[in-house]
Amino acid sequence: MCGIVGYIGKEKCLEKIINGLESLEYRGYDSAGIAYKVKNHIRILKKEGRITNLKNDLDLQQDSFIGIGHTRWATHGRPCQLNSHPHQVGAITLVHNGIIENYEELKKELQYEPISETDSEVLAAYINQMYQESQDILSVLSTLEKKIIGSYALGILVEGEDKIYAIRKDSPLIIGRSEDGNFIASDVPAILQFTKKYQLLLNHEYAVLEKDHVIIFQDGKEVEREVLTFVGEKEATMKNGFAHFMLKEIYEQPKVIYDTVQCYIKDDYMNQMAFLDEFDAIDIVGCGSAYHAGLVGASLLKKYGDIPVQVAVASEYRYTKQFYQKNHLLIVISQSGETADTLAVLRNAKEQGIHTLTIVNVVGSSIAREADQVFYIKAGVEVAVATTKAYTCQLALLSLFACYLGIKRGILKEDVLSLYDDLGSQIETILKEDALIKDVAQFIQNKNDIFYLGRQVDYALCMEASLKLKEVSYLHSEAYAAGELKHGTISLIEEGTPVISLLTDEELFLKTLSNVKEVVSRGAFSVIITNQEIMDKTLYQKMIQLPKTLDLTGGILVMVVCQLLAYYVALYKECDIDKPRNLAKSVTVE
Ligand code: G6P
Repeated sequence: MCGIVGYIGKEKCLEKIINGLESLEYRGYDSAGIAYKVKNHIRILKKEGRITNLKNDLDLQQDSFIGIGHTRWATHGRPCQLNSHPHQVGAITLVHNGIIENYEELKKELQYEPISETDSEVLAAYINQMYQESQDILSVLSTLEKKIIGSYALGILVEGEDKIYAIRKDSPLIIGRSEDGNFIASDVPAILQFTKKYQLLLNHEYAVLEKDHVIIFQDGKEVEREVLTFVGEKEATMKNGFAHFMLKEIYEQPKVIYDTVQCYIKDDYMNQMAFLDEFDAIDIVGCGSAYHAGLVGASLLKKYGDIPVQVAVASEYRYTKQFYQKNHLLIVISQSGETADTLAVLRNAKEQGIHTLTIVNVVGSSIAREADQVFYIKAGVEVAVATTKAYTCQLALLSLFACYLGIKRGILKEDVLSLYDDLGSQIETILKEDALIKDVAQFIQNKNDIFYLGRQVDYALCMEASLKLKEVSYLHSEAYAAGELKHGTISLIEEGTPVISLLTDEELFLKTLSNVKEVVSRGAFSVIITNQEIMDKTLYQKMIQLPKTLDLTGGILVMVVCQLLAYYVALYKECDIDKPRNLAKSVTVE
């Protein structure tokens, strides 16, 4: 939520900051702003809407060598110029990512009347008030946490100083290092055009950046911090000829799933997974698509691993009383590794002495750093707000966990791993032969309600398929447990209502097929996605046939179809596919 970029150095800053903000737009994109110094004066420009609006009104070649920029996802106050960042009060100009929970109380202590509706301006005023008393910004930053409840990553300019100050609590911030200067940024992609070198600013730390050096403080004392190098190419953050990041990322799946699987099966797979033997119960927690991946994973782990598994959304789990067993494992799943609710669940469990494992994409993210055990997926940088490749990599890794337990329990043979050899070419075939998917997309683009039906793993997949469609095309769709439809929702099925049924579970195939019959009898436009054989052509208008495979990898194939379907519907409806309205990729607030 919200993206921050700042630069101080020997080179001009505006182009760098705008460029950085553009690659952080996935974090929020309802307004943008920048504060930059020209001859000792701080100039501020803010614009409603996308960063292009800001860029168009800015002379990027101005002689400015220090600046901070922000792209906003509104929390307090509607998206408009006044509420955009940076906020300037007295000597303090700041950009903020996070939520200040006690901002109403802070406001009462101010001798200043905020002009915007934001918690961030109150924070700027509060910091300014503290600064006016002490005239020492570092001492203000060292005591800030005692006064502020909530989350914040801040980039701060102080009047009269050629420095950028940065501080973070429960919101991400990194420090980019280059020969010509230094950066702050919410995420590494923001700096990749300029440098691959960065340092992590850890939770509760603050830093001061000058053009040729950086000092990081922890508990008021200077600390050394390793300079890391981003592994990967900056091209990863470019579209490389694809119309949208979402399509590019869908097409990357054969490779990134292969990379993820290989990472764990090429070297002593059984040994790498042996830790699973220690546990008698598993909880899986995530948000959005990560939660949906957990549902599929749970189904596989229960079936092949014969182990109790519960799955929950992090925002609920964190406030639910847990009944942990002695050997209980908590798996948290997150693409970004920064999702506030997921992080809170992880921390709560650690406090209770529960072993925590994360399946995560972003290297060095908060969740990756704080979990007891980390299993990285190898999805690479994911830019489109709607996740695709990270989700399927999560499925692949969870299926490897299930495979291991299946082998140990004698349910599966070790050669089951050869399933993954075919996966890449199976996905490629789906990508190449997408005419039928486009046909279905053409048909449903003008409909109001779409239903996805399935049982067990298929139902879990339906939830993600439905979310994908909603996110990018704004079509209303619902995922339904196939057997549950007749308990009310079937009343919504009328002539031409699209019902997309997923039938990949061999054991439950006939059961779900009966439910398909029920909707077809009521006039539904039936689309079936299956790896089974269906002889009765009256049961569907369109059928997308997938290769027969075990459910361990079958879900990935189904999802590639559903991702493409969502993509093409959004394309035909001319939606803003990579940045759907109101969404943000990284949700760092509760
Ligand atoms: C946001 C994104 C979703 C994502 C969810 C969890 O809502 O738009 O695509 O699934 O956050 O994010 P995480 O980074 O924890 O996987």
